[in-house]
Amino acid sequence: MKMNFLESFVMNSFIRTWFLKNLEAPTLLELSGSLKDHAVLEIGCGQGVGTELLFNMFNAKKVMAMDIDLKMIRRAQKRLRNYDAPKLILHAGDATNITTRDEMFDAVVNFSALHHVPQWQKAITEIARVLKPGGRFIFEEVTRQWIERWPNRLLFLHPKESRFTDLEFLQELEKNGLKVEDRFTTKKKGDFIFGVGIRETRSIQHPK
Ligand SMILES: C[S@@+](CC[C@H](N)C(=O)[O-])C[C@H]1O[C@@H](n2cnc3c(N)ncnc32)[C@H](O)[C@@H]1O
Repeated sequence: MKMNFLESFVMNSFIRTWFLKNLEAPTLLELSGSLKDHAVLEIGCGQGVGTELLFNMFNAKKVMAMDIDLKMIRRAQKRLRNYDAPKLILHAGDATNITTRDEMFDAVVNFSALHHVPQWQKAITEIARVLKPGGRFIFEEVTRQWIERWPNRLLFLHPKESRFTDLEFLQELEKNGLKVEDRFTTKKKGDFIFGVGIRETRSIQHPK
């Protein structure tokens, strides 16, 4: 689901950039380690601040970044105009229907996009499918608790189906062969969850 006007305004502002650069990405980097020489898929890239950090902070070799909203892709294209294919591929796409072959990426990154996806469980199945065995799913998310706080309910628009607790999110990852174990942390009394799931090495039977 695309963001409403107010959320777009906040997510495209210096406020979001500051939080992502100074708090969220460093927390994820500490949990995941560097992505040097990695081929990375970013889902729900928005205006591309996280994409830039994947190169500059995580040292990714190549990034394919996608977002369901073409307007956000255009913004990201402007921000990332100094990066070309094959280092960067940006395209409009849906995280529940990733158009690449199985086991293609060393890492998939989700900077707070899945709570916008009504069928978030389907997106997790897709993420597990496109990760190589041993590949990392690096995520930060807002939980149901944050979405249901009255200011957020009043100001932002989120699909009802995509509200999950931290535990429900972690269980869904495990169900899809993404092992988190102790590689996660919650913040603000469970409003936010950050973590890394490692795709198990046995082959997964992917539904056609
Ligand atoms: C809260 S914003 C986060 C944007 C960016 N990752 C950031 O951290 O600033 C959520 C983003 O997910 C995108 N999105 C929503 N549903 C999606 C889907 N099914 N597939 C891919 N992107 C989606 C939205 O268009 C939006 O840009």
